[in-house]
Amino acid sequence: MDTILETKDLTKEYLMGEVRVTALAGVNFYAQRGEFVAIMGPSGSGKSTLLHLLGGLDTPTSGEVILTGQPLSALSDDELTRLRRQKVGFIFQFYNLLPTLSAAENVALPLLIDGKAIQPHRQQIEALLGLVNLADRQDHLPDQLSGGQQQRVAIARAFVTRPEIVLADEPTGNLDSQSGTAILELLRQACRDLNTTIVMVTHDAQAASYAGRVVFLKDGRLVHELVNGRAGASAKNILKVMASLQ
Ligand SMILES: Nc1ncnc2c1ncn2[C@@H]1O[C@H](COP(=O)(O)OP(=O)(O)O)[C@@H](O)[C@H]1O
Ligand SMILES: [Mg+2]
Repeated sequence: MDTILETKDLTKEYLMGEVRVTALAGVNFYAQRGEFVAIMGPSGSGKSTLLHLLGGLDTPTSGEVILTGQPLSALSDDELTRLRRQKVGFIFQFYNLLPTLSAAENVALPLLIDGKAIQPHRQQIEALLGLVNLADRQDHLPDQLSGGQQQRVAIARAFVTRPEIVLADEPTGNLDSQSGTAILELLRQACRDLNTTIVMVTHDAQAASYAGRVVFLKDGRLVHELVNGRAGASAKNILKVMASLQ
């Protein structure tokens, strides 16, 4: 198996004035190439912290993140930024689209930020918008789109650099169940068709059931794992584990 992302004894502490908050306490996580992994756990268990560290958006207090064989702590800020831009796509709960840019321009943004010209990528941007069913909404501004449509723009944006890894934090958390299902189908399809590794944080058992493997965090520790075949871990089993963690 080809491990594309792993952590070694990952620890993150936040200082709140005099008080030390331990968000992660020695997490050993991994994801294989092309795997769809869900991270679940109660509110405050460290899910978002772990996802941010996996993507190099924040640095650990101790321990290591190894992304495509590269320990992130060995990289300079510039090298880390470059690695992140080239290898990782991010999807957040609140879409984070720029309000003054059209859907197509928002999708193109990671290319612009990486100093690339848009013109050679026009077809790819159109294809991505077609893939997320927004071919006829390319010139719409975010506030002319529904929440589900905005999140589909954000998904197209996350894939525009053809990243090896996509990290998603509660990507369906702000959507009705029908839009949420469409997003999850898209992620699963991308995982299958593009062999993209997807790591998705969610507190929703239904959403997690789309993943092939679900890991459970509690108080900053990985405490359980459910593995399943192509159909994913069942929502019923996921709910059972979640109930035992409360
Ligand atoms: N920037 C921060 N400063 C201080 N404490 C934080 C910060 N971010 C998260 N925490 C704390 O770390 C713990 C884990 O938070 P988080 O990773 O956001 O959990 P989750 O995403 O599972 O709800 C919580 O106790 C939270 O209050
Ligand atoms: Mg969170």
